[in-house]
Amino acid sequence: MIVAHFSDVHALSLKGVSLRDFLNKRLAGGINVLLHRGRKHSVALAEALIDDLNRLRPDHVVVTGDLTNLSLESEFVLARSLLDRISLGPREVTVIPGNHDVYVWAAYLRQSFERAIGPYAISDGAVEPHFPVVRVRGALAVVGISTAVPSPIPLADGWVGRRQLAEVEQALEWLGRAGKFRLVLIHHPPMRNRHAYLRGLRDRDKLQAVLRRVGAELIVHGHEHRNLQMTLPGPTGQIPVIGVGSATYTDARLDRCARYNLYHIEGSSFTIETRVFDPASQRFVAYAA
Ligand SMILES: [Fe+2]
Ligand SMILES: [Fe+2]
Repeated sequence: MIVAHFSDVHALSLKGVSLRDFLNKRLAGGINVLLHRGRKHSVALAEALIDDLNRLRPDHVVVTGDLTNLSLESEFVLARSLLDRISLGPREVTVIPGNHDVYVWAAYLRQSFERAIGPYAISDGAVEPHFPVVRVRGALAVVGISTAVPSPIPLADGWVGRRQLAEVEQALEWLGRAGKFRLVLIHHPPMRNRHAYLRGLRDRDKLQAVLRRVGAELIVHGHEHRNLQMTLPGPTGQIPVIGVGSATYTDARLDRCARYNLYHIEGSSFTIETRVFDPASQRFVAYAA
């Protein structure tokens, strides 16, 4: 079984945006986007990535958040249109939000992410998005956590929260008993990261305690915009924790440029293949570190 993982698309679209939309945290974030991020994250690379996915046809695709920059409706429309290009369809594509997808209170209250991404975040047997999203596809079980909460400038932190922690524990417990390969999706890394006070997962200790009790076969995250490999203790050994770089980042450095991962899963183990954007051929190609 092959699972593809991409993250941090940061799709920029200012179509139909009014000045009123910027009278909040978006003002500072918007300046950053226009000066820096908008040039660095290319929608064309997201399209090339999806073309590559459609050629390779993995069994399932997971997306670990930050589809947008400022949680603008126009950005969500663009992000949704990109997801809809994946030929597998929403049943085989699971998406969770990142901090940029719940950037301001207005987006949180309007549930902009849930409304835009809907079918990609619906649990088995459910009719609307809810986190954690829990999906079983044969031997694979996907458990997608939301850590996205609105926070003031300059924070980019995240929370799992008590309700989700309890639901994640329950889901991982029964999926483990059922012998599934439990793949956990989370935007923020579930351990201490760089500048954790500003950008970290606040209740990471509580999530780590859940994982120590019930375990998981693989945890994947985004947020850091670079490939990372770490582990966390589980009940029967270490749990691999894999971060993937941004799907759309334009950079001459091969370790930073646009990329995604393929996990080749067999039984309870897996190997990783990374594919990066090659400017010469304008396609994603296999990457050997
Ligand atoms: Fe990001
Ligand atoms: Fe992020």
